[in-house]
Amino acid sequence: MIYLDNAATSFPKPEPVLRGMDAFVRSSAANPGRSGHRRAVEAEAMINETRLLLGRLLGFQRPERIVFTLNATDALNMAIKGVLRPGDHAITSVLEHNSISRPLNQLERDGAITLTRLPADSEHRIDPGDVIKAFKPSTRLVALTHVSNVTGTIQDIGTIGPAVRERGAFFLVDASQSAGAVPINIERDCVDLLAFTGHKALLGPTGTGGLAVGERVEVSPWREGGTGGDSSSPVQPSEFPHRLEGGTPNVFGLSGLREGVRLLLERSVDSVLTHERSLIAEFYRALPDPGRFRWYGADRVIAELQGDGRVGLVGINLPGFAPAELAAILDERFDVAVRAGLHCAPYAHKHLGTFPEGFVRFSVGILNTVEEMREAASALTEITD
Ligand SMILES: Cc1ncc(COP(=O)(O)O)c(C=O)c1O
Repeated sequence: MIYLDNAATSFPKPEPVLRGMDAFVRSSAANPGRSGHRRAVEAEAMINETRLLLGRLLGFQRPERIVFTLNATDALNMAIKGVLRPGDHAITSVLEHNSISRPLNQLERDGAITLTRLPADSEHRIDPGDVIKAFKPSTRLVALTHVSNVTGTIQDIGTIGPAVRERGAFFLVDASQSAGAVPINIERDCVDLLAFTGHKALLGPTGTGGLAVGERVEVSPWREGGTGGDSSSPVQPSEFPHRLEGGTPNVFGLSGLREGVRLLLERSVDSVLTHERSLIAEFYRALPDPGRFRWYGADRVIAELQGDGRVGLVGINLPGFAPAELAAILDERFDVAVRAGLHCAPYAHKHLGTFPEGFVRFSVGILNTVEEMREAASALTEITD
């Protein structure tokens, strides 16, 4: 199989992740912090080490304020519902995944907040000037994706973050497609809340994710419960990470996430990004007639700039084929796994003009090879011939 659906989840997981998980789960997977015995202490130490490694990877100086969640959706809901208050205004964009759009839309529909949804330009970027212009006195949150899972473009969070901070609002970044795929520096870019998922470019298993909570922002807990220590407190303790981590964490999953992050720190995210861009460029080069496909603005960037400003994903359509049909042929006849449709981001497809059918997304990962890209290109060529 040629797996080109890494934007949905990375697969297969690298061997060190599988081995590290296996070893940990066999030896130490007790309930962290709940009991005083050695296995419980080891489990808690593993989770805290995962926080430390993530802090290094994400340029975040307060790793104890990285709280683990089920996935990015959980982290984004925690941030949005834990920060916004009745009467607040929030700014978002057309490039967002439903895990940002839906909670914000629901709050707007309930009359709790007002919302501005910014357009993207022809290069699929959010103009920092538009963010500034959208500010109102009641703006409390700017919630934007770092990398769209549809367009693959990297947003200029380094310009937007300081502008948001200067205006006294909070900046929430959805790093689902960028954590592990694009260098991130939370402190430098003035990000207040960064949501990530553990199972994509961070190379961990599903069921892992988290929210890095900057010091300026107060997030009300939406899940209260057991935290191990300080059981006498009648309400959720105020210290991090316990404040936002009620309930037994996903010890199995986090032991895999730790290995994924360790591997990325050893290899460097920059080198992974270079590798993934070169795979997409190879895919483009290996097609004898790329002009037969629609590329949604990505072809020039790939051909001329080797994918600069983008991550390793690209959406295409082949005139005469519905996206779902093309994806099914690739799967059934050529054993190439891709994702067709709207990718949980309907506004992004409206922006591209591909709503409601969407397109076929090819997304690469750390373990994909040049040979696989050539084979995927030759499968497409055979379909068009
Ligand atoms: C940009 C973006 N945000 C959020 C998510 C949600 O991630 P999860 O399903 O892990 O919660 C995804 C997943 O595809 C995504 O691509």
